[in-house]
Amino acid sequence: MKQIQKRSSCGGTRRRVLGVLAAALVAAGGMLTGESAQAQPQGKLKIGLMLPYTGTYAALGTAITNGFKLAIAENGGKLGGREIEYFTVDDESDPAKAPENANKLVKRDQVDVLVGTVHSGVALAMAKIARDNNTLLIIPNAGADDITGPLCAANIFRTSFSNSQMGVAMGKVMAEQTKKTAVTFTWDYAAGKESTGGFKEAFEAGGGKVVKEMFLPFPQVEFQSYLTEIAALKPDVVYVFFAGGGAVKFVKDYAAAGLNKTIPLVGPGFLTDGTLDAQGDAAQGLLTTLHYGDGLNLPKNNAFRAAYMKTYATAPDVYAVGGYDAAQLLIVGMNAVKGDTSKRAELVKAMEGAKIDSPRGPLALNKGHNPIHDIYLRKVEGKENKVVSVAVKNLTDPPRGCKL
Ligand code: BEZ
Repeated sequence: MKQIQKRSSCGGTRRRVLGVLAAALVAAGGMLTGESAQAQPQGKLKIGLMLPYTGTYAALGTAITNGFKLAIAENGGKLGGREIEYFTVDDESDPAKAPENANKLVKRDQVDVLVGTVHSGVALAMAKIARDNNTLLIIPNAGADDITGPLCAANIFRTSFSNSQMGVAMGKVMAEQTKKTAVTFTWDYAAGKESTGGFKEAFEAGGGKVVKEMFLPFPQVEFQSYLTEIAALKPDVVYVFFAGGGAVKFVKDYAAAGLNKTIPLVGPGFLTDGTLDAQGDAAQGLLTTLHYGDGLNLPKNNAFRAAYMKTYATAPDVYAVGGYDAAQLLIVGMNAVKGDTSKRAELVKAMEGAKIDSPRGPLALNKGHNPIHDIYLRKVEGKENKVVSVAVKNLTDPPRGCKL
């Protein structure tokens, strides 16, 4: 107090000079801050990749990562002019560990954008954390219907599909082929239930009947007793949802039981995408529905497949496409705000209106931020899922209570 009194008793001239100096310093500081802010808006953009790198969906997580990074590389390695720093977590496709894993990225690493995941149960937990923390989340695979339905949010986007879409498409195709009875079989979690549920809805609307719905816990692969039951039921067709390592085993077991000779096996394209090398002869001729196919003769797909092959020395699959398009969507948003993620409303608006040239064909988003796209009917020929026809054009989800 004494000191202050002493200073304030200093002469007027000295005080004015000091004041001018201080003002000049503040102004110079402001200019410097302004200049550096222009040169480098907000430092590196932190992206959290939460994906499975172990377990039955490990290959899917790797393909998504590859696809995402390929699109970023094609964009000069930056987003909205900003360098990128990746933070990666292996979610093991384990919903029980999902809140802790997502919080590592959101709270500990403070990522600007969360990208993930494959497994619907894990994605549902990620969506909750993204909503609670208002973190931007882009889902490159997991199809849980509710995420873009009743649980939709301004900060949550999906570039893949919703689970029921492929089931609906195949149910329609099988009813058109005048199949009368079907058995469905899947893992007992959101993806399987919604996929087989979509099949049942469309198949029965077309005049068919699902005579039995069978489930086993994820990620079990002891299929034998279920195959025995299918053989006894003798339906006209069997629709299953399995993916990754589980899909490889199921298709092989189905053929080994001789069922591929008597009862057609169909499913969403996850049954045969990224799995054909391992499934070999057992997969030949299988019909599946998906928003992607290997031989799609589109300029974007041809360029994407060539670049992916060159970079990773392996062919891309639907998971790589999901990752690639997640980055394409983010590029649109980040360009619109020139890298300034604090302009969230502008960023979201740009992503909502994005018209993406996807390897699958044109991709737009509905009100719940879920893809509107064509669903193809494909047939396995050799090592390819060849596109036979468009099963459903411009498929979009029915409104499921999304309030956006
Ligand atoms: C899912 O859990 O949503 C899912 C997993 C693998 C392939 C497709 C969907």
